[in-house]
Amino acid sequence: MAPAVLDSVAGLRGAVAAWRADGLTVALVPTMGALHDGHMALVRAARAHGGRTVVSLFVNPAQFAPNEDFALYPRNPAEDLAKLAGAGVEAAFMPPVDAIYPPGFATTVHVDGVTAGLESVARPHFFDGVATVVTKLLLQCLPDVALFGEKDYQQLATVRRLAADLDIPCRIEAVPTAREADGLALSSRNVYLSAEERRVAPRLFEVLGWTAAALAQGAKSSYAVANGTAALRAAGFTRIDYLAVCDAETLAPVERVAVPARVLAAAWLGKTRLIDNVPVSPAD
Ligand code: PAF
Repeated sequence: MAPAVLDSVAGLRGAVAAWRADGLTVALVPTMGALHDGHMALVRAARAHGGRTVVSLFVNPAQFAPNEDFALYPRNPAEDLAKLAGAGVEAAFMPPVDAIYPPGFATTVHVDGVTAGLESVARPHFFDGVATVVTKLLLQCLPDVALFGEKDYQQLATVRRLAADLDIPCRIEAVPTAREADGLALSSRNVYLSAEERRVAPRLFEVLGWTAAALAQGAKSSYAVANGTAALRAAGFTRIDYLAVCDAETLAPVERVAVPARVLAAAWLGKTRLIDNVPVSPAD
C-alpha cells in the first residue's frame, strides 16, 4: 500500500497520535529523498521494530552553503514513494520549506565538540543545518526511535549528542553502512565515478580496515594514519581530506586506542569525494 503523504506538522502529529492510541510504536527515518539502497537499509531496520514507520523526505536548505547546489539536489518524489510503498512504510513526511522554516524562523541548534574538524573543515555550515532540522523533525514526530546511518558517522554522533543534551525522548539507533559486494559504501555520489575510479574506490574501505587492524594491535595513530595515507595515494586517490582516528563517542582525536574508536576518512577520486569509516576496538 502507498504510504500516506503528510505535508504539515499537524498532519504528522495527528497520524502519530492515532498510532499511539492504538498502542503502536513509531520509528522515524529522516532523509533528503533521492532514496538509494543505503536509505532502504535504514527503512528495513525501522520496519524491524514492528510498529509504524515514518520516512521524512525534506531537502534541508539550512545544510547547504551558498556555493553548494540546493536547487540541483536530486528530487524524485514519485520514485521515492514507490520505493517506500514496496517497503511497507506507512507515512512519508514531505513538508514544504515554510512548514519547517516559517517566516521569522530565527533558531539554530549548534552542537559543540563532535562537530569540530573532519567534515566541518570542508563544510563549516553543515552540522548547524543538520542539527537544527533533525531537532525539529524529532520534536515534530516524537518517535520512539530514529534511525541514522553509520556512513555519516559525524552526523550520527552529532544527533546522539543533541538528543541527549536536549532531553529529546527518542532512542537514536545507528545502522551499519550498506556496502557493495567489494566493500564500497553505498552513496548517491558513486554514480559519478568513472570505470577506473570505481575500480579504485573500494580501496578506501580496505585501507580503513588495515588501519583499524594496526591500531587494534597497538600501533600509534600517527603511524597508522601515515601508512594509510600513503596506501590511499598509492591506490590512486587524488586528494585526502582526512584520515583520522577518533574517540567513537566524542570524536576527539586519539593517539592510542584505549576506548572504542573510529577510523574516518574523506578522499577524492577525480571530482568525486568519498567518505567512509570503520570501528576499532582497544587492544587487549
Ligand atoms: O543524512 C541526511 O540525509 C540528512 O543530513 C538528514 C539527516 C536527513 C538531515 O537533513
